[in-house]
Amino acid sequence: MNKYSKIIGVGSYLPETILSNSDLEKRVDTSDEWIRTRTGIQSRHIHGSHETTSDLAFHAAKKALQHAEISANDIDLIIVATTTPDMVFPSTACLLQHKLGVTQGAAFDIQAVCTGFVYAISIADQFIKNGQAKNALVVGAETFTNLLNWQDRNTCVLFGDGAGAVVLSGSAEPGIYSTHLHSDGKYASMLCVPGQVMNGTAIGNPTVIMDGGAVFKFAVKVLAQVSQEALLANNMTIDQIDWLIPHQANIRIIEATAEKLKLPMSKVIVTVPQHGNTSAASIPLALDEGIRTGKVQKGQTCLLVGVGGGFTWGSALIRL
Ligand code: UT7
Repeated sequence: MNKYSKIIGVGSYLPETILSNSDLEKRVDTSDEWIRTRTGIQSRHIHGSHETTSDLAFHAAKKALQHAEISANDIDLIIVATTTPDMVFPSTACLLQHKLGVTQGAAFDIQAVCTGFVYAISIADQFIKNGQAKNALVVGAETFTNLLNWQDRNTCVLFGDGAGAVVLSGSAEPGIYSTHLHSDGKYASMLCVPGQVMNGTAIGNPTVIMDGGAVFKFAVKVLAQVSQEALLANNMTIDQIDWLIPHQANIRIIEATAEKLKLPMSKVIVTVPQHGNTSAASIPLALDEGIRTGKVQKGQTCLLVGVGGGFTWGSALIRL
């Protein structure tokens, strides 16, 4: 049994094609100015025509394994957080497992939309602490733009594609201090894709619909709440946090959350201008960018907080 699990490697991948706000001006009645001022987004990455979620996950996973300096064969648990699986089944995690050449251990997907990565970290943490897994690969990967109605300016300007991955291993020291997960299905219709596959066709509406204003208010409220909950559970104060790494949906949501927490924006990792909202991929993409740019360093304490459809929300308080 391990007392803790710890992140020993991080990696990410963004597809090559970049869609700018001015590209979107040609598709819908919007403007670069509106998108920048209301969301902070300047551009987002879009997957290639033959690129699937498991492809994005594969590239991110390879980098995380390299960073962790372990071989894919040492992985005995793969969890992929995604809302945009390659297929109805098998899971994207199984497809990723095969791409990595792994034949042992368990692989499964977790669906908690934009909170998916926090949910997946929490699950992997339990597996490692109770001794059921030694080395877990936890991935947030999305081809979220597949779910967009490109005629709907309320939603199509907000999202992008990408993947981020971490390797978690057993450790005598933290590691993951805590995770806290929440959900309340009564808010399901506030943000959803109300479609399904039936008798060989998509029925309902297979694109994102959202009450943007309601999501905005809900997100600020619960991101602040879940941050306080994590601090309280660990007897910590906000000044002991080196970095807040929140879900990247809208710069104004992030700024309002930081303000509620009395945390300066200089301690927040922000990637939403270049990535848009990549759903389950946004937090590990931000973590990786923080590390690669030299901001987030070994030994620092990071608070990861997410919120998304369901509604779901949660935190992971970690020491790198
Ligand atoms: O992971 C969670 C996923 N979702 C989110 O995080 C979304 C959360 N919500 C938001 O980010 C914001 O609410 C939005 C960016 C969606 C909207 O910003 P807002 O400041 O709440 O705008 P608003 O609702 O006050 O204003 C919307 C206005 C409407 O026009 P009218 O009715 O006031 O004339 C929209 O038609 O802005 C219009 N609008 C646009 N105009 C230009 C909506 N989308 C656009 C657009 N370009 N792309």
